Amino acid sequence: MLSGPSPCELVFDLPGTEVYPLSMSDRWYQKAVIYCLDIDTFQDSDGDGVGDIRGLIGRLDYLARLGVTCLWLHPIHPTPGLDDGYDVTDFYGVDPRIGTLGDFAELLHQADDRGIKVIIDLVVNHTSDQHPWFRSARSSPDSPYRDWYVWSDTEPPNRKQGMVFPGEQEETWSYDRTAKAWYYHRFYKFQPDLNFANPAVREEIKRIVSFWLQLGVAGFRLDAAPFIIELTGPGDPNPPKDFAFLTELRQHAQWRRGDAVLLAEANVEPAQLVDYFGDGGGANGRIHMLFDFMLNGRLVLALAREDPEQLIDALRDTPKLPGGGQWATFLRNHDEIDLSRLTTEQRQQVYEAFGPDEDMRLYGRGIRRRLAPMLGNDRRRIELAYALQFSLRGTPVIRYGEEIGMGEDLALPGRQAIRTPMQWSTLPNGGFSSAPAEKLIRPVISGGDFGYETVNVTAQRQDPDSLLSWFERMIRTLREAPEVGAGSCTHVDVPVPAGVLAHRADGPTGCMLFLHNLGRGDVTVDLGKLAGEAEHPNDVLADQEYPPVGDLSALRLAGYGYRWIRIRRVA
Ligand code: NOJ
Repeated sequence: MLSGPSPCELVFDLPGTEVYPLSMSDRWYQKAVIYCLDIDTFQDSDGDGVGDIRGLIGRLDYLARLGVTCLWLHPIHPTPGLDDGYDVTDFYGVDPRIGTLGDFAELLHQADDRGIKVIIDLVVNHTSDQHPWFRSARSSPDSPYRDWYVWSDTEPPNRKQGMVFPGEQEETWSYDRTAKAWYYHRFYKFQPDLNFANPAVREEIKRIVSFWLQLGVAGFRLDAAPFIIELTGPGDPNPPKDFAFLTELRQHAQWRRGDAVLLAEANVEPAQLVDYFGDGGGANGRIHMLFDFMLNGRLVLALAREDPEQLIDALRDTPKLPGGGQWATFLRNHDEIDLSRLTTEQRQQVYEAFGPDEDMRLYGRGIRRRLAPMLGNDRRRIELAYALQFSLRGTPVIRYGEEIGMGEDLALPGRQAIRTPMQWSTLPNGGFSSAPAEKLIRPVISGGDFGYETVNVTAQRQDPDSLLSWFERMIRTLREAPEVGAGSCTHVDVPVPAGVLAHRADGPTGCMLFLHNLGRGDVTVDLGKLAGEAEHPNDVLADQEYPPVGDLSALRLAGYGYRWIRIRRVA
C-alpha cells in the first residue's frame, strides 16, 4: 500500500509564493547539514602541531563550498585531555592549545558571515577530576562544592556495574582518599558525575548555556543525556530519570535565544526515545534533535547484508515525534560504531563484513573504523551509503574527512584510530601542520590507500569526479529538496528486486523518490504505480547517467546504484 504525503502543520498559501509551514524558518536545524570536527585535528595555523581556532577560520570557505550549514565542535574547553576533551576543567573557557575566547568569538562571526551556525558540545554529566569544583569537593565535607558530586560514605554494592567503557573502565564508584568517600562516575574514573539533584548544579549549567548563547553559538550537542538526568544513588542500578531538567534547559535556552537548538546524544531503548522530546514546543518540550543510534546500527547492518529489510523496519517503527522534533542521522562519528542494539547474530554479521580483525573492534560492542575502509574503499558503496543516509528522514551529520574518504590508523589506541588529522594536501603532514611530525597531536595517516599522499582535499578539489566533488553535488541537491529533512519519509511498499530500497520524502515543497540498490547486481524497478503523482519526473542525483525516467515503470539501477528522482515540485 502506498503512503501518501503526510499532512503538514500550519500551511499558509499566498498566491505566487512558496508554500511553507509557518514555523519552518525557525526550525533551521531541519534543513541543516551538520559537519562535526575536533578543532585540534582539523588545521594548525601556528605550527605547534595542534589544530586551532584560527586554522578552522581559514578553512571555513572550504566548509561553505562543501555546503555545510552547521558545525558541531567537539569540546573546546580547557582539559587535561584524557578523554579527548570530554573531561572539562573550565566550562567558561577555551582550551589554550586551540586559541582564546577572542578567537572563538571571531570564529562565530566568520562562520555567521558564511551562513554557517556553530553548536558546541555541552559536557555536563561530569567534569574532569581536575576541575576546581571537584578539587574543592574532595578536599572537605564542608566544601560548598561537596554536594555538586555524587558521594557514598560506604562502598556501594553495585560499584562494578554500569560501565560505559568495558575493558578500559573497571568500576562506576571509586574511592577517593582525600575525600574519604566513594564518588560516582558513569564514564572514566577521572570524570566524576555532577549531582543533578542539586539545584545549584542545575543553575550553574544554565549559566554555562547562557554564556555560550550570548557569545553566539546556535545550540549544543548534549553529551550523555540519559546519564545527566539520572538521579543516581549508591546501590541503585536503575535510578529514576528526571526529564524535567531537559524542559528547564530548553526553556532556558530558548528564552535566551529563540532558535537555539539542543541535539542530544541518547543511545537508549526505542521505547524511551520519545521521552527525550517531551511535547516538542509545548510547556513540556524537551530536546529538539536526537541522534538516531537505532537507525545507525540498522544502516550498517543493511549495508553489511546488502539487504534493506532492517531499514524498512526502521522507517516503519520510527516513533512519531512532536512538532519540531527531529532525528539527526549519521554513519560515522568520533566514537566507535555502536552495535550493542543489534542481536548477537546481527552484530557478528557486521563484524565479519566490516570489522573482521579483533583489533578493529572495541568495547565488545563496536567498530573503530571509518566508513571508506569498512566498505573496501569501493567508491560505489561509499556513495551509496552516504546517498542513503542523506535521503532518510532527519538532519544529516557528517564527520570531518568522510567527504574525502579518509581511513583509520589502527596502530593508535582505542577511538584515536578514527581521530587522525584532516588531510588537506600532499604537503608534509598532509598540510595539517608545519610542525615536525613528532610534535603533532596525532600522526597523520601516511602511505597506502588512505595516506595523505593519495587521499587529500587539494587533489579532490581539482577533480570533478572525486568523492569530494560528489559530496558537494549531493549536498547541493539535498538543499534543493527541503522535504527530505523537514517532510515525511516513507517506504514505498511495492514489490522491488531484492536489495533495493524505495522510499519517498513528501512535504509542502513537493515529493522526492529515492531508489538505493544495496545489492551488487543490476536490476530494473517498476514504480509505475506512482505515475499518477509524477509531474515531469527526472533524476536529480544518480550514480551514473540513466535513460530518462519516463513513466516510472522500468527504472534501471546498477549494482550499488542509486537514483534520487524528483517527481513533483511545488514552486
Ligand atoms: C560521549 C562522547 O561521544 C564520548 O566521546 C565521550 O567519551 C563520553 N560521552 C564521555 O563524555
